[in-house]
Amino acid sequence: MRNSFKIFIAVTAFGIASSIIACKRETPVAAVLNSPVLPETPYAYQTREPIPDHMSALVFSNTHLDDNIATLGRVLFYDPRLSANSTVSCGSCHNANYAFAIPKQFATGLIAVKTPRNAPSIQNITFYNSFFWDMRASRGLEDMSLMPVQNHIEMGISDLNAVVARVKQTPYYGPLFEKAFGRAELITELNIRTALAQFMRSVMSFRTKYDEGYATNFSNFNSQELAGKQLFENKFACVTCHVPPEFSSNGQGACTGLDEENVGDQGAGAFMQMQDSTGFNSLNGVFKIPTLRNIAYTAPYMHDGRFATLDQVLEHYSTGIKTVRNLDPRLQPGFTMIWGPTVNFSSDSPFNGPASNTVTPVRMNMTAIEKAQLIAFLNTLSDPKMISDVKYSNPFQH
Ligand code: HEC
Ligand code: HEC
Repeated sequence: MRNSFKIFIAVTAFGIASSIIACKRETPVAAVLNSPVLPETPYAYQTREPIPDHMSALVFSNTHLDDNIATLGRVLFYDPRLSANSTVSCGSCHNANYAFAIPKQFATGLIAVKTPRNAPSIQNITFYNSFFWDMRASRGLEDMSLMPVQNHIEMGISDLNAVVARVKQTPYYGPLFEKAFGRAELITELNIRTALAQFMRSVMSFRTKYDEGYATNFSNFNSQELAGKQLFENKFACVTCHVPPEFSSNGQGACTGLDEENVGDQGAGAFMQMQDSTGFNSLNGVFKIPTLRNIAYTAPYMHDGRFATLDQVLEHYSTGIKTVRNLDPRLQPGFTMIWGPTVNFSSDSPFNGPASNTVTPVRMNMTAIEKAQLIAFLNTLSDPKMISDVKYSNPFQH
């Protein structure tokens, strides 16, 4: 309990009474319908800590944050009232303790209906301009931030006016909107989107062991971590797709040969057609290249959460890549071997080269020692300070 930081923001007797009751029981977030507890002075969402030079894009995002708007966003993010039956919040599927992912293959939305994909982590969102595993939302975070509310599996309120009406009816939002936007009456769809987006933009990872080592040529790494870094950058060239400092590719996608052709979820190919002369859609099997920041916290892995451990992910790259026509060139022999750390990223199409019938998947054939070294390196991308930061926690759980 962090009571010294907190005051009750709600002024209604009902709100206070239900909060106190909620303190005494162990209720999962889905069932809590009390008022949020917030600090008297808002937390510093616009961080006062220096952000290292190699993370300079974060500085841009951070100077556009407002502590009161992000605070409102935090409340909206964790408020189950935004779902059709008041049981599901964004936080039900994006849990701060797991870098805003969830340790389940498929998250449960409204009453036992599961999402068809694994919930991704949310962090350093300023680095991305397209969202979801298939990159279908590409008009910015503010635009997408209410899509999950409308999604019938996730939160199920298709009419956004109904969402606005609910927020208006909930007593604690008036004062929060007043602080954030100047007037309690400014409860609008646009301001709800903005607040949610600001909260998500405030979730920043820049204090990992990797970040701390960056300026000192990684003198803080032990020999195993250094060996893993070498493998990641050179021998296995993971870095050609998982590009530092985000260890992703700014919303670009790739087909990593998880499944045989035309089997299962087709990712970007399911909503966008890019046929070659034979009618083959070269976007089939293409999914967003996800960030590897905080990867130790975000199991299970891949768009469908099929791998429970990092070891299983590495085994896929080591021996499991399937022979599919649109396998990313970076996962074909020759490519990784010829390309070293001096790879010219810009020559690389986000959606792969031309489909070919003569694809050979790379076999990285990692040894157990190499796998352990890679995992040691991946663990340097953990940011425990982000994970435990109280300003990202659920204000309804107290
Ligand atoms: C029932 C679980 C569930 C709920 C509730 C939920 N999400 Fe998600 N979220 C997901 C899943 C699953 C995906 C991936 C969907 C896909 O790729 O098709 C996702 C994707 C996202 C992404 C894209 C991340 C990326 O890297 O592409 C963002 C941002 C996001 N959700 C924000 C929110 C917000 C904001 C809310 C509340 C308004 C919310 N989510 C509610 C499960 C959920
Ligand atoms: C051709 C680009 C590419 C290369 C090279 C590549 N990856 Fe990936 N990686 C991806 C994509 C795309 C996904 C998501 C695949 C999916 O879900 O369908 C992914 C997923 C992952 C995940 C799971 C992330 C999550 O949040 O679920 C890990 C861990 C990972 N890769 C590590 C590595 C390592 C280690 C290497 C080098 C041995 C590597 N990758 C090489 C593109 C690549």
